[in-house]
Amino acid sequence: MEQLVTSDFKLGIIAGGQLAKMLIQEASKWDIITYVMDNDEHCPASTIASKFIKGSNTDFDSVYNFGKNVDLLTFELENINIDALKKLKSEGHKIIPDPEILELIQDKGKQKEFYRQKNIPTAPYGLYRNREEIRKGIEDGRIKYPFVQKLREGGYDGRGVVVVNDAGELNKLLDSLSVVENKVEIDKEIAVIAARNKKGEIKCYPVVEMVFDPHANLVDKLICPSTITAEQSENAIRIAGKLIDLLDMQGLLAVEFFLDTNGEIMVNEVAPRTHNSGHHTIESIITSQFEQHLRTIFDLPLGSTRLKLPAVMINILGAEGYQGPVKYLGLTESMAIEGVKIHLYGKKITKPFRKMGHVTILSDTLESALEKAEKVKKLIKVLS
Ligand SMILES: Nc1ncnc2c1ncn2[C@@H]1O[C@H](COP(=O)(O)OP(=O)(O)OP(=O)(O)O)[C@@H](O)[C@H]1O
Ligand SMILES: [Mg+2]
Repeated sequence: MEQLVTSDFKLGIIAGGQLAKMLIQEASKWDIITYVMDNDEHCPASTIASKFIKGSNTDFDSVYNFGKNVDLLTFELENINIDALKKLKSEGHKIIPDPEILELIQDKGKQKEFYRQKNIPTAPYGLYRNREEIRKGIEDGRIKYPFVQKLREGGYDGRGVVVVNDAGELNKLLDSLSVVENKVEIDKEIAVIAARNKKGEIKCYPVVEMVFDPHANLVDKLICPSTITAEQSENAIRIAGKLIDLLDMQGLLAVEFFLDTNGEIMVNEVAPRTHNSGHHTIESIITSQFEQHLRTIFDLPLGSTRLKLPAVMINILGAEGYQGPVKYLGLTESMAIEGVKIHLYGKKITKPFRKMGHVTILSDTLESALEKAEKVKKLIKVLS
């Protein structure tokens, strides 16, 4: 740490969205120099990075040249040119988390194979090359309704995920390399963020419970502590810790789970980075996920993940029907409520359901935090 802050050590971050912005906010507390690469010069992190470099995360040359000019490379998203990362690694550059782990996780098919090999509970599935193969799978009985098709690569925020309930919905099928898995009767969706440093020290955050807006297919509210049983919660935390250990990973691993209507926990997917489900940690946990990410990549002692106060997090999303330069309503009234913490990412243009910011609401009880969150939801509007 001492060496880190007394040199001109450069931390490189691929992509400059809100996760990078919040990471830089933490890094700046420790006076760490941050370089950010993004294709959009108006991205959220561009105004606070020590240096902004324009470049595409999927382009070999952009990623390679950016990586060559920093002392340690990390990232805020999965969709990165892997060949460039591998070449950088082979030339001795430090990339954390490791490109091999990113490569495994980029492909939902490989991810599922990993869970199967390691006996990690997950929804039963098959791998298919295209729409035609899926149709054949249905005809010969390998695939049964209802099922979920997921593109193996490139999906995010629910894009690339199709639920097919019956033959009448087959026109929704996408034509690409896919995972086809049983549709789970979901009772709850939960997530656990695990952290691991080079020494193999592991710390997991308390379980958060996600409430989805079915219309936007985005997290609508997130609560911590979750309302699941202590046994279910211990189970989820145990699996998250086991996964990060099995991956022999340095960094953060966000693990998304389903809890089905029989009370069974299964892994949906993982992300090797800071996560939307950990935004509340900035205010509600002793060590935020962003500080913890820095602690893992610099191999520092991990910080406490103890919850200070019950928290609810809501995303501030662009309203339906509005697109253009953003205008916010209701921020001032919301701030008047005790425990309301507003985060705006600084995106200049709003679009329907675009993540423009989030609000964390802290209170003495989860019930009162939820009541306040409802008030805030009604107050804040993102228009143009
Ligand atoms: N097997 C399943 N059964 C029922 N619902 C599912 C299943 N798989 C996914 N879903 C629903 O679709 C959502 C998105 O799926 P998934 O997390 O795999 O995709 P994603 O595009 O990576 O999403 P995100 O970026 O929002 O995490 C899940 O949160 C869940 O609500
Ligand atoms: Mg997901």
